[in-house]
Amino acid sequence: MSQFLIRALVEEDIAGADRLRQQAGWNQRPSDWLRLLRYQPNGCFVAESGGDIVGTVTTTSYERELGWIGMMLVDLSFQRRGIATALMTEALKFLDGTGIRCIKLDATPVGQHVYQRLGFETEWTFHRWTRTARRVAKPRAVNGSPIAFESGDLDRAAFGVCRQRYLDLLRPEARLVADNDGFGMLRSGQNADYLGPVTAESPEAASRIVSKLLPQTENEVYWDIPGPNVAAAKLARSLGFEPARDLTRMWTGSKLLQPDISLQYALADPGTG
Ligand SMILES: CC(C)(COP(=O)(O)OP(=O)(O)OC[C@H]1O[C@@H](n2cnc3c(N)ncnc32)[C@H](O)[C@@H]1OP(=O)(O)O)[C@@H](O)C(=O)NCCC(=O)NCCS
Repeated sequence: MSQFLIRALVEEDIAGADRLRQQAGWNQRPSDWLRLLRYQPNGCFVAESGGDIVGTVTTTSYERELGWIGMMLVDLSFQRRGIATALMTEALKFLDGTGIRCIKLDATPVGQHVYQRLGFETEWTFHRWTRTARRVAKPRAVNGSPIAFESGDLDRAAFGVCRQRYLDLLRPEARLVADNDGFGMLRSGQNADYLGPVTAESPEAASRIVSKLLPQTENEVYWDIPGPNVAAAKLARSLGFEPARDLTRMWTGSKLLQPDISLQYALADPGTG
């Protein structure tokens, strides 16, 4: 059995970490790693073997209330050797050390096996919805929005905790639509553009926001919709999206925050909730 070392992720590791992301076919880009690292510089970890990055995990904390675990990846040729479990143990230890008691993540079907063994329970299941490209041409990048905005009480109710600091880091990379009834973002990904987060007071408000964002891209679009939000799924279907992948929201800890899922029309990313 090969040896591996668990240590903190640093900026110089991003190319190695992104190799694993590419291997798994995920949609994030190097800028996503950088954002996660800048947000929580001591809370992202790698497994290293023979000088190579062979595993990754990130944590994202919201207001010392909620900790999110993401980017759990292990090199194909190093799987089933306990690396994911060791990375999770380090991530959970880090979050525990900051006093965070409620921890969540979005699991792929294979990831679920790892997390169940560590005591995570299912909160709800959800789908990634996709819409194919509108034209066959070189994809154009989605431009970021320079304007500031306040995610406010509506997003706190939707997500269960304030995530303004994280959204402030996301905003320069995303096209933003915001009004009194909610907000939405659209940004470029490695494989497809990503719609989310979208928080809205009503299905009509969500429809208005999404209908302003989608015409800004002709690329394929991914949209992760919380399973319990039936109105969001209905909206996605009416706009030509189809469910493509199953994911599971899981949690552990002493307290389960109670977000209002009826206000959450799109996740920000499975890696951050
Ligand atoms: C999911 C993933 C991170 C697991 O990494 P890993 O290092 O192989 O996991 P571990 O060795 O710590 O596995 C711990 C336990 O989880 C379970 N498990 C892990 N992979 C499994 C699989 N493919 N099928 C069934 N059970 C599995 C087993 O019980 C395993 O213990 P065992 O090997 O003693 O039977 C890895 O398969 C991966 O990178 N997959 C692609 C990306 C992905 O889906 N990431 C998860 C995102 S939520």
